[in-house]
Amino acid sequence: MEEQSKYAFGIDVGTENVRAVALEIQGEDTIKVIAYGEAKNEKGMRKGIVTDLSGPAEATDKALKVVEGMSGVNVDAAYVSINGSHISSEQVTGMIAVSSVAGITSEDLDRLEDTAMSGRITNNRQVLDVIPLNYTLDGQSGIRQPIGMTANKIEIVANVISGLTPSVDALGRAMAAANLRVLRFMPTAVAAARAVLTEKQMENGACVIDLGSSTTSVAVYDEGDLQYVATIPAGSNNITKDLAISLELNTEAAEEIKLRFVTADFSDNKEITMRHAGETITFSKNEVNEIVKDRLDDIFAHVYEHLERAGYAQKLPEGAVIVGAGAKMRGIAGFAKESLKMATRVGVPGAGLSGMVEDIEKPEYATVIGLALSMADDGRFSGVGDDEKKPFSLFGIFKKKK
Ligand SMILES: Nc1ncnc2c1ncn2[C@@H]1O[C@H](COP(=O)(O)OP(=O)(O)OP(=O)(O)O)[C@@H](O)[C@H]1O
Ligand SMILES: [Mg+2]
Repeated sequence: MEEQSKYAFGIDVGTENVRAVALEIQGEDTIKVIAYGEAKNEKGMRKGIVTDLSGPAEATDKALKVVEGMSGVNVDAAYVSINGSHISSEQVTGMIAVSSVAGITSEDLDRLEDTAMSGRITNNRQVLDVIPLNYTLDGQSGIRQPIGMTANKIEIVANVISGLTPSVDALGRAMAAANLRVLRFMPTAVAAARAVLTEKQMENGACVIDLGSSTTSVAVYDEGDLQYVATIPAGSNNITKDLAISLELNTEAAEEIKLRFVTADFSDNKEITMRHAGETITFSKNEVNEIVKDRLDDIFAHVYEHLERAGYAQKLPEGAVIVGAGAKMRGIAGFAKESLKMATRVGVPGAGLSGMVEDIEKPEYATVIGLALSMADDGRFSGVGDDEKKPFSLFGIFKKKK
């Protein structure tokens, strides 16, 4: 008998572009890309944050329609990206006494997490994820999974990912307006890591940098766990704006210059003449190089600062992987390697997938593919029992600070 199809969906709500994908999971290990779509986010977002619900709602609706048309599958629920400099990660610690001789239960661990978080996450923040990094049982540290073990005292070190409640809430409402149930919000770079890093790379130490239009997000992995996330409020669109200001051009002309002539190796310095909207524009590549270099220097200096803050600058043996459409600038990996002082490559999703893989093997599809893969990993297929049985509450999935 043929097994019933299972689907997983990702929606990456970017400041400039909303991308959606549908995966079909067939049997044990066949994951097929069955549809992908994107739509311009014309208005309503600034630096990764929703400022007007209608803009991202409309763009999401459009991207979903493309995916639904291509796959013939109704997208009702998905994993959705969240972005913006309000997203942060914090290490918390906590300790509880356990009395049961029957062994540590998941309820004990919930109580331990609550103790660790109490008073640490402020009232105006929404917890998006709690990643236990280490448990200590009666002084014995380095325990990964204590359920079933016995101890009098358990301690935890956990990484708590949170975002400002109004921003999380606004994104949730924009998705609800597009008739989409949010099963989970994931920071963009965290989602992308699922698509471009192997488990071994996460174990050894690596980071993902999502260079988007107006944000650059970083996620650091070590010992198999997410250790740190941060978002810098500048991206590839800042290069366009800098060019427009310095060369006294409109942003369309500046964008064309960026896409056609800018490379991050700053090799040539000739005079360039191009036609744009019926006008002739002449500029020196030298001047453009300086403008672009200044901005990239600034962005990657901030990335480096975050790596230092996380305690991982020059300590990631598997290096950095750059994703996002901003990663398509020629020479970007070499530039990042110099400024971050570590091995760097541009990451594309698609490894191990079948179906329309060639179409999504692009750095700008890393986040959305990672979202859908994470949904599949968690077994939260669309139309599968569990989610249907529970009455849906948009934010019921998040642990609220007490
Ligand atoms: N070939 C290219 N070379 C350089 N830059 C490019 C190229 N293609 C697209 N970009 C730039 O990538 C940016 C869009 O990136 P992306 O779609 O990842 O952003 P987003 O997800 O909408 O935004 P954010 O992640 O900041 O919210 C734009 O600034 C665009 O100019
Ligand atoms: Mg993005």
